[in-house]
Amino acid sequence: MEGGISAGTAAAQVFRAKKVALRDGRTAMIRRAGPRDAEAVIAHVNAVGAEGIHIMTEKLRRTPREEKVVFRNADGRAGLYIVASVDGEIVGSADIERGRQTKNRHTASLGIAIRKDSRGLGLGLAMMRTLIAWARSVGIRKVTLGVFASNTPALALYRRLGFTEEGRLRGQVILRTKPVDEILLALWP
Ligand SMILES: CC(C)(COP(=O)(O)OP(=O)(O)OC[C@H]1O[C@@H](n2cnc3c(N)ncnc32)[C@H](O)[C@@H]1OP(=O)(O)O)[C@@H](O)C(=O)NCCC(=O)NCCS
Repeated sequence: MEGGISAGTAAAQVFRAKKVALRDGRTAMIRRAGPRDAEAVIAHVNAVGAEGIHIMTEKLRRTPREEKVVFRNADGRAGLYIVASVDGEIVGSADIERGRQTKNRHTASLGIAIRKDSRGLGLGLAMMRTLIAWARSVGIRKVTLGVFASNTPALALYRRLGFTEEGRLRGQVILRTKPVDEILLALWP
């Protein structure tokens, strides 16, 4: 790539919690995941996973103790792990992890999950914008993700943010007995 990559020297970013007004009148707080969130985040991701059609994860195999390490590793330099809470309950989680090798430190991959009863209210957009702003702030040049071709809401969200298709793994997953492609999307923020 031309212009050189300075991403390797990027400093950790201080992350400030922020409030988001949801379309149903509630207020969500987006903040970094902390040790006390470990159990709730595992339960949250598992609930979305149990729906069976949106995300690759079916059940997280990490213990709360291991989850805390994941949060700690997302230190604002190597990555960022955020949660959204409403009245103290976790309704969304999202994380972004930068490539660990010299070769791919200019890239990062992300994942997001909003609880079923809190979708379509603007939270996914706010959390994605938070992750992308972080990526930009630490010099990441390319953000990638995989999405199932059947996941219309997620595809619409990503395209709205400027993600474009870079590839397609045909029949990569079987969802409710049907083969579905995984689409690889990227954003050069
Ligand atoms: C996909 C997901 C992250 C979107 O988050 P969300 O909070 O529901 O989305 P938002 O309300 O912020 O919507 C943002 C934009 O996404 C698109 N969108 C969201 N839901 C949509 C739907 N049901 N149909 C079409 N477009 C949709 C729209 O462009 C929307 O903007 P608009 O409301 O101004 O039209 C969320 O639905 C989710 O977590 N789903 C389950 C897990 C999952 O699929 N994770 C992603 C795996 S790749």
